[in-house]
Amino acid sequence: MYQIQKKDGRAKRGRLQTVHGVIETPVFMNVGTAAAIKGAVATTDLQEIRTQVELSNTYHLHVRPGDQIVKKLGGLHKFMNWDKPILTDSGGFQVFSLAGLRKIKEEGVYFQSHIDGRKIFMGPEESMQIQSNLASTIAMAFDECPSSTLDRDYIGHSVDRTTRWLVRCQEEMKRLNARPDTINSHQMLFGINQGGVFEDIRIRHAKEISRLDLDGYAVGGLAVGESHEEMYRILDEVVPYLPEEKPTYLMGVGTPANILEAVERGVDFFDCVYPSRNGRHGHVYTNSGKKNLFNAKYELDDRPIEEGCRCPACRNYSRAYIRHLLKAKEMLGMRLCVLHNLYFYNTMMEEIRQAIEAGNYREYKKRKLDGMQGK
Ligand code: GUN
Ligand code: ZN
Repeated sequence: MYQIQKKDGRAKRGRLQTVHGVIETPVFMNVGTAAAIKGAVATTDLQEIRTQVELSNTYHLHVRPGDQIVKKLGGLHKFMNWDKPILTDSGGFQVFSLAGLRKIKEEGVYFQSHIDGRKIFMGPEESMQIQSNLASTIAMAFDECPSSTLDRDYIGHSVDRTTRWLVRCQEEMKRLNARPDTINSHQMLFGINQGGVFEDIRIRHAKEISRLDLDGYAVGGLAVGESHEEMYRILDEVVPYLPEEKPTYLMGVGTPANILEAVERGVDFFDCVYPSRNGRHGHVYTNSGKKNLFNAKYELDDRPIEEGCRCPACRNYSRAYIRHLLKAKEMLGMRLCVLHNLYFYNTMMEEIRQAIEAGNYREYKKRKLDGMQGK
């Protein structure tokens, strides 16, 4: 059950009720691809940095340790000791970006595992079965995320297949949720809009999938090499054709600026590897822009990463110390940067929710962007 609490322009402040608790939106989901946030971050840490949703991947967990094993151990929540919402991506995107030789057919995709080269088949039914075994809160539809270099003719046929796959996903999820041995009989399903950079194909696809009564709608196939301006243009065009009364999810995005712009265009779910990946490289987000803690100017800097930040890194350690840890390749250095970055994103989402509630989202966005600009 999703309800809009407040709107400010097209920005939505929503609330999604799930069997694993409430998700307050706009929300940034913290990425733990293989059921672990990279950088030695434990799920007990996620509680402390106020993570609402953890995101894992169907493809990765199917390959290792295997979804049957996770099911035998009681599902992903029990396996990783996380009782709040989990969203699983369908494997579609990962198959296209990671797997070796692949063949796309009407029934699904044949490909090779990036771990051991084993041949695997995944279609809509298989993806739903794996996600049902993992027992995530929200499952994603099995889609094709076509390369942005492909022509309009290919993209047109591809989205038609993605729609047919979506219908099969919905039927399979209904069947799985009704099975007596299912772990989460209330598993939700989000559909995914595709269409590359072609406005008419995007809109046609959005209209088609909106007719299916799904629990939420994602915009996929973005942040794959197009410019930020082009991504904002596509959001301007397509979000109005997705049901406003359902959650809107922009997959794999993005920088703080990307999120601020997309919220203004009606998006309320996000995920991205940037905060964790950048943290592992000593790049940290602050209200005055990104900092590289490897920089020599932090050698004697005894201030926290960001003054006033209440994250576990800033409450306890200085820039100089964390810089030393990073240079000495101590795991703790990476871990502290990742914790700070995720806390920065999670806190920005709280500010976004408050600004929408207060009806001053545009002013908030401008102030936040001006502060971070080029520093
Ligand atoms: N993650 C980022 N983009 C996409 C997409 O287009 N499809 C899926 N399934 N996941 C994504
Ligand atoms: Zn901090």
